[in-house]
Amino acid sequence: MARITAGLTSSHVPAVGAALDLGKTADPYWAPLFAGFEFSKRWILSNRPDVVVLVYNDHASAFSLELIPTFAIGCAETFMPADEGWGPRPVPVVEGHPELAWHIAQSAILDEFDMTIVNRMDVDHGLTVPLSLMFGQPTRWPCKVIPLAVNVVQYPPPTGNRCYNLGKAIRKAVESFDADLSVQVWGTGGMSHQLQGPRAGLINRAFDAAFLDRLVADPEGLAKLPHVEYVREAGSEGIELVMWLVMRGALARDAREVYRFYHVPASNTAVGHLILENSR
Ligand code: DHB
Ligand code: FE
Repeated sequence: MARITAGLTSSHVPAVGAALDLGKTADPYWAPLFAGFEFSKRWILSNRPDVVVLVYNDHASAFSLELIPTFAIGCAETFMPADEGWGPRPVPVVEGHPELAWHIAQSAILDEFDMTIVNRMDVDHGLTVPLSLMFGQPTRWPCKVIPLAVNVVQYPPPTGNRCYNLGKAIRKAVESFDADLSVQVWGTGGMSHQLQGPRAGLINRAFDAAFLDRLVADPEGLAKLPHVEYVREAGSEGIELVMWLVMRGALARDAREVYRFYHVPASNTAVGHLILENSR
């Protein structure tokens, strides 16, 4: 059977992708951020997944206000990098895993999570920047990726609790897929950031530190945090953090923290990164 071996979380700041693509990783501004992912790039070489279920949000690249799925699962063979502010990133095409994606869709929908099935979708920085942070700049991504898009752009996003329970449903689905696959679940976005309005630039280190602690040790408690707390404490885009709870729900309750990194500044965002491993 397939199994979930590990999970990780990472911010997905678009300027980080641009720094990589434009050869600026050694600039004094960016070097400390990329240094924080050196451990992770080594770790993933010895913990290479066959498939990543990559939980991210689309930033009006594939969807618009005309169509706003709460949870959308990409079931296609391939996904093209989206054209956004800097143009489409010069990164490899993302290869999906249609069989596992359809299996997760079926299992989750029959478990009463009404996923939107997407057979054609471009993927933006929300998905490609974490891939670049973990795998660098390969000519082909070293694993298959199932995009799982969560609406955190237009109110109302799903609750943290719903996201946590979706993670559990994903775990059940993966563990009932009859193939010997190592699967990781990644949660992206966050941490504290606000891109607009009078509070633009907001960073809340204390909230972020507590969020990291609770995601590891008290996910049930953290899952109860209401939206208004995310927005008040972590800024309007801090709500992206609900996606980290999908990852946490997919991992075992006693999953072990392997690595943690936190860095400010990166564009407008406090970058947070965690790696959790399930016991074998
Ligand atoms: C920034 C962060 C994001 O998560 C995003 O989607 C866009 C921009 C930023 O920090 O600039
Ligand atoms: Fe974002």
